[in-house]
Amino acid sequence: MVHEVRGVVAKAKGAPVTLETVLVPDPGPGEALVAVQACGVCHTDLHYREGGINDDFPFLLGHEAAGVVEAVGPDVTSVTPGDFVVLNWRAVCGECRACRRGRPWYCFATHNATQKMTLADGTALSPALGIGAFAEKTLVAAGQCTKVDSRARPEAVGLLGCGVMAGLGAAMFTGEITNGDSVAVFGCGGVGCAAVAGARLAGAAKVIAVDLDPRKLELATQFGATDVVVASEGDPVEKIRALTGGFGADVCIEAVGNAKVMQQAFDARDLAGTLVQVGVPTPDMRIDMPMIEFFGHGGRLKPSWYGDCLPARDFPMLVDLYLQGRLDLDRFVSETIPLDGVEEAFHRMERGEVLRSVVVLGR
Ligand SMILES: NC(=O)c1ccc[n+]([C@@H]2O[C@H](COP(=O)([O-])OP(=O)(O)OC[C@H]3O[C@@H](n4cnc5c(N)ncnc54)[C@H](O)[C@@H]3O)[C@@H](O)[C@H]2O)c1
Ligand SMILES: [Zn+2]
Ligand SMILES: [Zn+2]
Repeated sequence: MVHEVRGVVAKAKGAPVTLETVLVPDPGPGEALVAVQACGVCHTDLHYREGGINDDFPFLLGHEAAGVVEAVGPDVTSVTPGDFVVLNWRAVCGECRACRRGRPWYCFATHNATQKMTLADGTALSPALGIGAFAEKTLVAAGQCTKVDSRARPEAVGLLGCGVMAGLGAAMFTGEITNGDSVAVFGCGGVGCAAVAGARLAGAAKVIAVDLDPRKLELATQFGATDVVVASEGDPVEKIRALTGGFGADVCIEAVGNAKVMQQAFDARDLAGTLVQVGVPTPDMRIDMPMIEFFGHGGRLKPSWYGDCLPARDFPMLVDLYLQGRLDLDRFVSETIPLDGVEEAFHRMERGEVLRSVVVLGR
């Protein structure tokens, strides 16, 4: 059986997204069909629309989602119909070199559904990050579904599927923040605010939020930042030193994707401190520095992919913390919108007005 649903499609580079009829096949081996309940609007969706990821148009956008499993392929045992799940873009294979060495968060062979979702005329769609959840139903690999406590709000916990997990994990896993650490987070959008929340959860004593936009600094404070630095007023590095007894922060997290900010985050560390790079640079960005600074500063430089998370390990744990009131995922939801509101939400995101707009479906 083929399911006929509505979905948000980017048909051509730079063109506004449109609502289209999407045909979703029943799940085959290793696949799951998910009735999407909520899906956040992320910069990566906009990058797809702008042709910044690849040219495999048309794209079915949306990837920060939660929903209910409707059907599974014949061999699937990890989830069953009725399960409330958060979708992820890293279904680890268990067999590649990284998985075999016990580092599955680096899995190099993550998988997606093998069957294609299509437009009504049969044109195959490329689902964003192998998910495609700005649609009433989507087809994914069963391993992309992580069952979590069904009492959680879909629009809040779906955000764990990408940017919020990237920020939380950058602090908790990549940065290995621990009790008493001082932390500086550069850039306080959805990812940076999540890094602030993650730093607090991990026991940081001081969390300094750095952003150009005072609205973002206010939000960062609500997520637990203890100090704020307006990046446009003076040198953020000096301010961070002053706030940390002259030393610099134990862990600096770059959550912008900007060479100048990366340099600031490098410099604002204490000796032997850790720099976590979670912002995604464009190919033209460069950093040039004397090697002696690199050596002399010591410590660790760690890019963070998806927060080094393991969805099966981390999503249920983070949802539990959310339900206990220790992780305020609701605060990331700036607004809820209908499926046909994605194009407008892109503009609000570009103007910096929201942490996350979240599409809510089927209720
Ligand atoms: N590594 C990963 O797995 C991963 C996953 C998701 C997103 N990301 C990346 O994380 C980055 C942040 O994503 P987001 O959704 O939070 O974006 P965002 O645009 O919402 O946030 C970026 C923030 O940086 C601030 N900023 C811009 N220039 C600055 C400067 N010079 N100094 C200080 N602050 C500055 C902006 O005001 C904004 O608040 C992006 O590069 C995104 O692609 C990485
Ligand atoms: Zn693997
Ligand atoms: Zn995303």
